[in-house]
Amino acid sequence: MITNTELEYKGNLYPNTIVEYRRDTDKLYFTTSNGVILEMTILRDSIFRFRYATENIFEPDFSYSISEDVSIGFNHLKVEENTTEYLVHTAKLRVLVDKKTLRIQISDLEGNIINEDELGFHWEENYEFGGNSVKMSKITQNAESFYGLGDKATHSNLKGKRVSNWVTDQYAYGKDQDPLYKAIPFFIGLHNNKSYGIFFDNTFKTNFDFAHERRNVTSFWADGGEMNYYFIYGPQMSQVVKSYTNLTGTPELPPMWAMGYHQSKWSYYPESNVRALAKNFRKLRIPCDAIYLDIDYMDGFKCFTWDKSRFPNPKKMISDLEEKGFKTVVMIDPGIKIDKDYWVYQEGVENDYFCKRADGAFMKGKVWPGECNFPDFTNPKVREWWAELYKEMMSEIGVHAVWNDMNEPAVMEVPTKTAPLDTRHDYDGHPCSHRKAHNVYGMQMVRATYEGIKKYVYPKRPFVITRAAFAGTQRFSSTWTGDNVATWEHLWIANVQAQRMCMSGYSFIGSDIGGFAEQPNGELFARWIQLGVFHPFCRVHSSGDHGDQEPWSFDDEVTNIVRKFIELRYQLLPYLYTMFYRYSKEGVPMLKPLVHFDQEDHQTHFRTDEFIFGEQILICPVQEPNAQGRRMYIPRGTWYNYWTNEAVVGGMEKWVVAGLDKIPIFIKEGAMIPKYPVQQYVGELEIKELVLDVYYKKGVETSTVYEDGQDGYDYKKGRYSLRNFNFKGKEKELVIQQFKDGSFITSYNTFKMNLHGLPFKIKQILVDNEIVDLKEVKLNGNNNIHLSKDFTVLHIIGA
Ligand code: GLC
Repeated sequence: MITNTELEYKGNLYPNTIVEYRRDTDKLYFTTSNGVILEMTILRDSIFRFRYATENIFEPDFSYSISEDVSIGFNHLKVEENTTEYLVHTAKLRVLVDKKTLRIQISDLEGNIINEDELGFHWEENYEFGGNSVKMSKITQNAESFYGLGDKATHSNLKGKRVSNWVTDQYAYGKDQDPLYKAIPFFIGLHNNKSYGIFFDNTFKTNFDFAHERRNVTSFWADGGEMNYYFIYGPQMSQVVKSYTNLTGTPELPPMWAMGYHQSKWSYYPESNVRALAKNFRKLRIPCDAIYLDIDYMDGFKCFTWDKSRFPNPKKMISDLEEKGFKTVVMIDPGIKIDKDYWVYQEGVENDYFCKRADGAFMKGKVWPGECNFPDFTNPKVREWWAELYKEMMSEIGVHAVWNDMNEPAVMEVPTKTAPLDTRHDYDGHPCSHRKAHNVYGMQMVRATYEGIKKYVYPKRPFVITRAAFAGTQRFSSTWTGDNVATWEHLWIANVQAQRMCMSGYSFIGSDIGGFAEQPNGELFARWIQLGVFHPFCRVHSSGDHGDQEPWSFDDEVTNIVRKFIELRYQLLPYLYTMFYRYSKEGVPMLKPLVHFDQEDHQTHFRTDEFIFGEQILICPVQEPNAQGRRMYIPRGTWYNYWTNEAVVGGMEKWVVAGLDKIPIFIKEGAMIPKYPVQQYVGELEIKELVLDVYYKKGVETSTVYEDGQDGYDYKKGRYSLRNFNFKGKEKELVIQQFKDGSFITSYNTFKMNLHGLPFKIKQILVDNEIVDLKEVKLNGNNNIHLSKDFTVLHIIGA
C-alpha cells in the first residue's frame, strides 16, 4: 500500500533542480537534472494541465476522458524568471515553479494562494509491473473543504476522508463503502470563498487523501501511468464544475421520454406480465414512459437473444406497448457465453475480439450465463462490431433503448470481482493490462452501445444506461447508482450520490427508487419516490426477490402519493428539459448542492440533504420514518413554500411541515416555472397552453424555457424554441420581458401565468406597451392571466 507517510519517504523519488526551460506556444517545459519533465499546458487563463515525465520520456498523449469539443484559448501568457523560480502569468492566475524542487504554487491576481504543492510530484518505481506509482501532495489550505469524486456513498464534504477509484460491482453496498461502480478522479477544493478543481486524468487505480492521514496535506496517487492532472480555477464552484464538464464533455439531448417515469424489476416476464404491468399503469392513471426487461428476457442469459417461451413475439409486444405510450428498454451485459453454437460467441472468437490473458489464453469469467469471454471494448474494431450487434434488436424488433450492466466488468465467484489484472487490452492502440484498462472498460462498452443505438434509432435520439463509468462517460450514457438497499440510510445515500455525480460532470443520474435489495415499506417507498422524481433519471428498480415494487404494491395512500409526485414530475417536464438543455449545452449541473449554489455562505459547506433542482427549485427530502416535517437549511434569499405559497427568508434553519404526502419544496422568488398538464406519457397530449408559475419578487431574476420536437435532430437545424424571461418586480409594478430564439413553433399559442405572492391588486395590464382589456387576458381574481406566447414586454400595474 502506498501512502504519503514519512515512513515511506524512502522509496520515493523526487525531481531535483530545473536545468532547462522551453516554451512551445501553449506548452511550457521544465526539465530537471534527474530527467523529470514538467509539461504545463495553458488551456485557458484559468485552466492548466500539469503532466510529469520521469527519465525524460512522456507516454503517448491519449485520453478517453477529454472531450473533442473542449474549448480552449487564453488571453495572456507571460513567463518570467528570477533566481529561485519561474513565474507564469495568465489573465487570471499566477503560477510559481520552484527551480530547486519543481514544486508549484498557484495564486490569483490578488496574490491569494489557491493551491500549492507540499512535496509536489514524486514517484516510486514499480518493480513488479514496471513504470511508476505516481504521487502528488498538496498543502491543505485553512478551512478547506472538498467535493466531487463521482458516486462515493459518503458525506458530500470529503474533508478528512480517503477514497479510491476502481470500478467495482458492490452489491448492497453500505454507507462509506468504497470504491463503488464509478471512477471519476475529479475533486473540487474550496477555501477562502474560492474554488478550484483537479481532474487527475489517469485510468489506473487512483487514490485521494483529503487531510485524512495528515491534517495539512491533500494527496492523490495512482498505481501506474503518468501524473497528469488538470487544474481548473473558479473562483465560483459553478464555474469549476462547468469547466470540468466542458473538458470531459456533455451528452446530447436525450429524447424527452427518457426524462419520464420508468418502471423496472429483475425481471418482468413472461410477456403477459409485462402487458399486465403496462395495463395497470394506464388503469390507475400513473404516468409511465418506459418498461425495462432485465436479463430473463434472454435465452439462457445470452446477449442479443430472446427466450421464445417467455417472449414469443417481442416485436409485436413492443409495438403494442408503444401504442400505449411505453418504450421498451432491454439489458445487455458484456459477458458472452462460451458456447460454440452461439453466433455472438462464434463471431467474437473468429475475429479475435475477446480479451486475452498475458500468455494468450482467453480471459474467462463467470457471469449469469456461466463461463463467459469478454469483448475488448478498448479496441475500436470491437466497438464497431458491438455497435452492429444491436441492428436487429433496434431496427427489426423495435427495442427503444439499452441498459448496459455488469460492465465493471463484474465477474462472479472470484474475490477480486473482476478480470485478472494481467488481462490484455488494446486501449485504442496503446496495448496494456487490465490495471490500466479496468476503469474504462465499462465506459468503452457503453460507448460502443451508444454508437450502435444512435445509428439504429436514427432519426430518433438514443437513450442508454450504464452501471460502470469513468470520467467522460456522461457523453454517451445515463447511469444509476447500482445495487442499493431498501433502507432509510440508502435514501440518504441516493440523495448524496446524485448531487455528487452532478458535481462530477455526470448529471443524468438516478438511484433504484425504493432500493434494489430487500423491500421498502410503503412509507419508505413514498419518501424515495418524492426524492426520485427530482433526479434527472427517475426509475423504480428492484431485485424482485423480496416482493413487488410497483407504485400500487403498498396501500392506497401510498399509491396516491406516488401518483401525485410522478404527476408533478410530468408537469415539470418543460423545466426538467430546460435543465437538461443547459447541462448539455453549457455543462451546468442539473442538481446543485447548496455549496454550489452559495459557496460564500459557510453554512452550506457541510449540508448534505438540501439541493437545488435546476436553477430555482429547492428540494429537501424527508429521510426518516414517522416524520411530519423536518428541519432544513434554507439558503440565502427569499423562497416560496410550494405547498403554501408562504414566502420565507433564508440564511437559516427552519422547521418545515411535510407529512407523508409532501416534502419540502421551495421556489426561488422571481422564478417563472414552466409546466405542462399531466400526461400519462410524454407526447400523449398536445400542449394547448404553457403554464408559467410566476413568483413575485421585488427585484430581478431570469428564467429560461427550452422546447423542441422532444425527439429527433431538428433542433440542431435551429428548430427549437428558447425563451428567456427577464423578471423585474417593483412595489406596485411587474415587468416581464421575453427574448425568443429558434424557429420551432410550439403547439400552444398562449401562456397561462399564475401569479404567486403578488403584493398588489392589478389595475392595468400592458402587453407590448398597449393597454389590454382585462377580459381579454382573462384576469381571474388576482391570480392568473392568459396571454399570447409572443409578447415581448408585459407590464402589470398595481392599484
Ligand atoms: C445487477 C444489476 C441489477 C440487475 C441485476 C440482474 O445486479 O445491478 O440492476 O437487476 O444485475 O441483471
